[in-house]
Amino acid sequence: MFSMFSSREKTGTMTSGRRNHLASLNSPLLLFLFFVFLHSCSCSVLNEQGVVGHGYRIRSVNVDPLGAFTADLQLIQKASVYGPDIQNLILFASFETKDRLRVRITDADNQRWEIPQNIIPRPSPGQHIFSSKDSDLVFALNETSPFTFTITRRSTGDVLFSTLPIIVFKDKYLEMSSSLPATRSSLYGLGEHTKRKFKLVPNDTFTMWNADIPAANLDQNLYGSHPFYMDVRSSSPNETGPPGITHGVLLMNSNGMDVIYGGSYITYKVIGGVLDFYFFAGPSPLLVMDQYTELIGRPAPMPYWSFGFHQCRYGYKNLSELEYVVAQYGKAGIPLEVMWTDIDHMDAYKDFTLDPINFPAEKMKKFVDQLHNKGQKYVVILDPGISVNYTYGTFLRGLKQDIYIKRGGANYLGSVWPGPVYFPDFLNPAAGKFWAQEISIFRQMLPVDGLWIDMNEISNFITSPPLNSLDEPPYSINNAGVRRPINNNTVPASAMHYGNVEEYNVHNLYGFLESRATHDALIQATGKRPFVLARSTFVGSGKYTAHWTGDNAAKWEDLQYSIPSILNSGLFGIPMVGADICGFIGDTTEELCRRWIQLGAFYPFARDHSDINSIHQELYIWNSVAQSARKALGLRYRLLPYLYTLMYEAHVKGAPIARPLFFSFPEDIMTYDISTQFMIGAGVMVSPVLKPNATTIDAYFPRGKWFNLFNYTQLVTSKYGKYVTLDAEGDTINAHVRAGNILVMQAEELTTKIARQNPFELLVVLGEHGCATGEVFLDDGEEVDMAGEKSEWSLVRFSCKMEEKNVKLRSEVVNGAYALKHGLVIKKVVILGLRSASGISSVYLNEKKVNSYLDVSDTVVEIRGLSQLMSEEFGLKLKISDEMKAK
Ligand code: NOJ
Repeated sequence: MFSMFSSREKTGTMTSGRRNHLASLNSPLLLFLFFVFLHSCSCSVLNEQGVVGHGYRIRSVNVDPLGAFTADLQLIQKASVYGPDIQNLILFASFETKDRLRVRITDADNQRWEIPQNIIPRPSPGQHIFSSKDSDLVFALNETSPFTFTITRRSTGDVLFSTLPIIVFKDKYLEMSSSLPATRSSLYGLGEHTKRKFKLVPNDTFTMWNADIPAANLDQNLYGSHPFYMDVRSSSPNETGPPGITHGVLLMNSNGMDVIYGGSYITYKVIGGVLDFYFFAGPSPLLVMDQYTELIGRPAPMPYWSFGFHQCRYGYKNLSELEYVVAQYGKAGIPLEVMWTDIDHMDAYKDFTLDPINFPAEKMKKFVDQLHNKGQKYVVILDPGISVNYTYGTFLRGLKQDIYIKRGGANYLGSVWPGPVYFPDFLNPAAGKFWAQEISIFRQMLPVDGLWIDMNEISNFITSPPLNSLDEPPYSINNAGVRRPINNNTVPASAMHYGNVEEYNVHNLYGFLESRATHDALIQATGKRPFVLARSTFVGSGKYTAHWTGDNAAKWEDLQYSIPSILNSGLFGIPMVGADICGFIGDTTEELCRRWIQLGAFYPFARDHSDINSIHQELYIWNSVAQSARKALGLRYRLLPYLYTLMYEAHVKGAPIARPLFFSFPEDIMTYDISTQFMIGAGVMVSPVLKPNATTIDAYFPRGKWFNLFNYTQLVTSKYGKYVTLDAEGDTINAHVRAGNILVMQAEELTTKIARQNPFELLVVLGEHGCATGEVFLDDGEEVDMAGEKSEWSLVRFSCKMEEKNVKLRSEVVNGAYALKHGLVIKKVVILGLRSASGISSVYLNEKKVNSYLDVSDTVVEIRGLSQLMSEEFGLKLKISDEMKAK
């Protein structure tokens, strides 16, 4: 009987020893017949080790016409530790879209904790069912005892996820594993941790329990939790398929967990909730991001100004110091867009207050008005802990509105910067209102432009004694790398939230909920697109907030770790991310700070921030740093239209702004291991110096032609991908644009407000056969909705190709409204990659001859003095002389 079904098995290859791959979502009838058989058999199948695994057998199954099915599972073998097993489980598997498969396993008899719909909206099980036949993923249940399931890619036959016959399901301990093809799988994700490498290294445990552990600590659970990974396969099983076929896997679960990656397997050990897996079909990394963010929420659009440079420090003493810093940036000619203050401006560290002596309200208001007049912005910090102080309005209003987290029936008393504090319970809708009201009151005193929400893991300077079993669950996750109790330095797990929800279950969601409340409050208060920067994040946080990587150290190692960290954030759907430039903890050095701004100028979010105990590190302090800052930030500001267009791509498709090289070159397996370079979008590659005393760097160039963005004539040609040693003296910054791209740029200025008034320039980098493409998204940069139905925006696409050996550039105006209204104009087109610029005989714009073109060098041609409206489609033709054509 088994073999009959096995021989009929059409889908997927089996992993060794576990045959009988019986029923897939494609063969409901077969499946049903099998279950009639299984039902009448009390068989117990040995797994490959010859022992009966812990787990469940399939008791019955129901398959709907679209191929979604529900299986009843029964405990067959108990696991001896971590409490009693749950007797009956229910499995539900269905395709929610063509590219998204969900497999959810939970207690059949009792409801368990799951992330509520009003926190991460998503279809309830069975709500959206897509026909399984149309997907590239194939789900199959295996009749083994215990049961297992397998997910296979139809087009390649590759097994993507194949559970081992050990499934443990207890009240406070769930365990499940999948095998992985160790030699073909490259995994990325599972954050938040500081890692040396972006690609996950086998034999590592990834703990997820949000904690105020400085990012300077390698390999420990940090501020956020993202049980999501991307798996890039270097080949298909029979070596026939191309490298780079990618899928994604999310465990939608907010409880604490350890995820163990062993190379040939991955194991989830989770202390609550349910096993709710989502599989994203890809097959490219960018498509996985599209599919992932479609589920968890698209990244929030960020205001245009937030792409400018930010200066912060913990320890600014008074307003005069702020004024001094702003003035010094101006004097040094280094762009400063946003000035920040940390907790220093507060009165005794109370949120929404100003220190009356050092940061007096009236003078602060003048200061902020002046910043605004100069096109600059101001952002302040907020911590969740509200000082317990009966003369403090915010505290009293919170008390009256009864919005604080409770424990044992009373408000839970923690301790943070101001001393004793209560924490708003953002699960309570009234807390959102309270927060919005406080923000609005504060903004009436000081019209800040954005908010920085820190310490929201929640960080607590005390550890309260345990009250019940929630505080001490039977399985200790590897908190802080030493299995320290989950209650340490946070709100205890037995604390209670609105709706009788235990902190145990929502601990990892606090930063997310505070981000959402802050985001919504800012929209209410300003009517503009909000800017929120959060330290603690969860799946879907990108819908509301930007993120910085937390407390790194001013060390060379941390400069390098910042690359995997920002790439991870992009993978988690939080593309607006940066690390503290020049390092937070400890004293930076001139050389480190110089190299850090050279790299940091290309973080999507670029902010210099330092600790109160370390020396000042504003960019103007050292001449060499200032020079590099002007140079690197100068390029950043020239690239602002490109960066902002990437924000749009992130918002509509989930594409990270800073990306690993393999996103653009998944077929090049050499890119999988790179943690020292990254791409900005698909067009620009940054290869920073990460070591002291360096005068050269070795950078990998995937196939193609790469032009130096500072000096267009310097070119690297890479036929199949190769390492190249590049000059990296002093203020040299290696940023390259790849042939085939058209970058939209503007001249640099000291603020984004002025820069965006400059006419546009197109950098057209001819690729193979003269082809190149690019696009620009434009709007006012602060409308709440980006590209919304009621918003005013423009999207213009550019493409270039060779026709009869002439270069033809044309634009396609997808939406011209914003560009038309503001009369936006393209003034200059620079073309790189011509075989010889001197061969151009004439240039025509919309069939009219243009006289102002210039061969800057043999391969660079500049067409100047144009006044082409962005809102009107155009054609630009470069005629190549017949003599050149003949060559
Ligand atoms: C911790 C944050 O990570 C850091 O950036 C900040 O300066 C301090 N808290 C003080 O607020």
